Amino acid sequence: MQAKTVFSMKEIINHLKEFGFVFQGSEIYGGLANTWDYGHLGVILKHKIKLLWWNHFIKNNQFNIALDSSILLNSKVWQASGHLDNFNDPLVDCKNCKFRFRADTLIQHYFPDLDCDGWSNEKLDQFIVEKKIKCLNCQHSDFTKVKQFRLMFETYQGSVENQGNKLYLRPETAQGIFINFNNMKKFYNKKLPFGIGQIGKSFRNEITPGNFIFRTYEFEQMELEFFYSPTDSINWFNYWLKSMQDFIKKLGISEHNCQLHQHDKDKLSHYSLATTDILYKFPFGWKELSGIANRGNYDLMQHAKASKVNFLAQDSTTNKLVNPLVIEPSIGVERLFFAIICDSLIQEKVKDKSRTVLKLNSFLSPYHVAIASLNKKKLGSKAQAVFALLQPTLLDVIFDQKSEIGKVYNYHDQIGTLYCVTVDYQTLEDEAVTVRNRDDMGQVRVKITELKKYLYQKLNISC
Ligand code: GAP
Repeated sequence: MQAKTVFSMKEIINHLKEFGFVFQGSEIYGGLANTWDYGHLGVILKHKIKLLWWNHFIKNNQFNIALDSSILLNSKVWQASGHLDNFNDPLVDCKNCKFRFRADTLIQHYFPDLDCDGWSNEKLDQFIVEKKIKCLNCQHSDFTKVKQFRLMFETYQGSVENQGNKLYLRPETAQGIFINFNNMKKFYNKKLPFGIGQIGKSFRNEITPGNFIFRTYEFEQMELEFFYSPTDSINWFNYWLKSMQDFIKKLGISEHNCQLHQHDKDKLSHYSLATTDILYKFPFGWKELSGIANRGNYDLMQHAKASKVNFLAQDSTTNKLVNPLVIEPSIGVERLFFAIICDSLIQEKVKDKSRTVLKLNSFLSPYHVAIASLNKKKLGSKAQAVFALLQPTLLDVIFDQKSEIGKVYNYHDQIGTLYCVTVDYQTLEDEAVTVRNRDDMGQVRVKITELKKYLYQKLNISC
């Protein structure tokens, strides 16, 4: 068996569309750029990703609890957090065709090895003029001066639009956690160290969204803010970096396709003392999959100053009241979804034929088992009985009688189903079925009475 592991972006996007995982948003109206909708299989995969994050970071971690805060927050939150002043990207407009670009990304298009992230507006302006940078749309070299563009979407509360009732869609879930720190500490009687995790939608008016679901205007984040005492001797940054790496590995993403990138001091976000990104080798290059940031006491101190509320917490070792420090491991659901698909969609040559398989691991496969039969009319009711036997178990099962068996196998290989169970004529005599394994296509005969036990063993499920 020969494996081709790398698919192009186009092939991946087509595959996800063909099988109803992800497709263009607002399609019947010509689409809305950089918005994507998720069909049944995409919803299942997202749901499983979030469940695994929940198990890893909340359920199975002794320190952490969960929160679900509002998307709309008092605008004072964004003033205090520094987002209103600092959450910007450098923007230029082509004077000829009016196309809009992120200045650093435009430069990097022509100078891919140049790292101009963090350059001042003046430096970007000068470089664009000196190097006669051209518009990617019309090829003219005539741009407006670089200006900072706020990435937060704005809206208004109530029926009247004025500055007083202006609100912002949150660009990160983290601030909802910081402003609820005292509530969570009190309700759950927490002493340091402890973490608060949240899964939820965030919104950014990105200047250059794109690369499919990699960078979009709306996306879901899975974030943990971990609070600890300044006298704590544990290196919590390394702890959470390792924990995030373990999580990504658990999802089946190959370690060879991940690498670490430590941000230079002058490239850090306004709130960060140090950040390490976990990069993934996407079809368009090594890009951020997850970020682990040392936010120090920046956020809580900013909110303390602005709200006049203190955010002291008790150190569980010394019992002293201290200002907590924060480590933040953060990852986007859709970006992780994309990395998982890039890592598991493969094409194999088996003898002279080639087949496409989505080799999702058993935690992520939309279905553990598909039940089918060789003849809908004659064997359909027996297959239904096998389905009814497995459906109430811990297995994710689908009854699939839509086409002939070869096509059923082919379909389920391509959506990642782990096993196909086939009822055939012999089943009526020996009460056994054929179980086909997705990965090696091996087939075994299993008694119906033993089927649940067999699959539980294969999938490492304990009753
Ligand atoms: N609270 C920290 C924070 O928001 P970030 O690095 O800007 O940090 C964290 O975002 C993660 O959210 C990223 O590593 C990425 O997985 C995801 N993410 C950020 N912007 C995104 C976008 N426009 N589209 C999709 N995912 C995004």
